Amino acid sequence: MALITGASRGIGRALACTLGRGGATVVVNYKKNADLAEKVVAGLEEAGGRGLAVQADVETVEGVEALFARVKDEFGRLDHFVSNAAASAFKKILDLKPHHLDRSHAMNLRPLVLGAQHAVPLMKAGGRIVALSSYGSARAFPTYAALGPMKAAIESWVRYMALEFAPYSINVNAVSGGLIDSDSLQHFFGTPGMPNMSSVLDHIPKGRLGTVQEMADTVSFLLSPGAEYITGQTIVVDGGLSIVAPPFFADSSAPLSPSKRPAGKE
Ligand SMILES: NC(=O)c1ccc[n+]([C@@H]2O[C@H](COP(=O)([O-])OP(=O)(O)OC[C@H]3O[C@@H](n4cnc5c(N)ncnc54)[C@H](OP(=O)(O)O)[C@@H]3O)[C@@H](O)[C@H]2O)c1
Repeated sequence: MALITGASRGIGRALACTLGRGGATVVVNYKKNADLAEKVVAGLEEAGGRGLAVQADVETVEGVEALFARVKDEFGRLDHFVSNAAASAFKKILDLKPHHLDRSHAMNLRPLVLGAQHAVPLMKAGGRIVALSSYGSARAFPTYAALGPMKAAIESWVRYMALEFAPYSINVNAVSGGLIDSDSLQHFFGTPGMPNMSSVLDHIPKGRLGTVQEMADTVSFLLSPGAEYITGQTIVVDGGLSIVAPPFFADSSAPLSPSKRPAGKE
């Protein structure tokens, strides 16, 4: 029995479908897109799971409370809580207003902490909490200042929660994504002044965007019995983006450019 915030689209939807294929019951939280959330529920029921779409705005304290009250009323327990929903204003620091800062905290960090406070009493030994982070937690790039530090705080909270909840046998981890092909990435690169997305692909060692399924598969692993001894960690899924620095291989020329795969020895 899993609860995923923001599961009507993107990574949350891919995760709900993945868990559904394994026969899980999934609460599909959403804010606006009821039709998409109901489609996710229909899809995961077709795949052999069970679903319940629950509208709740996790940016508000009341929304988080209502969401968990519904989980408690319907199921009386919870095995997995995935804090996935996120939203931010993409602006220069000098243009950020106090309400942008307050909303980013309320939307991107507080639901993990309040959610964990509701989730833990509903969990038995073996419960899991996973939060979604991004490479903006440790790297700086244009317009991400309202969100990146919230992601850094998520990774820190994950460590504190892992410590405090370990005696209850509840593991807490984060999955940090690089550039993942989704609506939100399109929206981010649509910010006026942002470089063309294709210009950054050369700087990702894997040479492409990640997929929502690759993120979902990693979260799914952290929810599985195989991840029993992993807690307090942030698993990075970024095609190698965070390991590179200038000078970039992509900008080099012969004989450095890795243009051809070396021939194998006969
Ligand atoms: N995409 C990337 O490149 C990338 C990279 C690294 C990390 N991540 C992280 O992965 C997570 C998911 O990202 P994504 O790209 O899959 O997002 P997305 O496609 O923008 O989807 C966001 C989801 O959150 C829901 N949502 C938005 N505001 C909400 C609110 N106030 N209350 C409840 N639900 C709300 C949306 O529901 P409605 O549409 O129904 O409102 C939607 O289901 C985020 O934490 C993000 O920071 C993403």
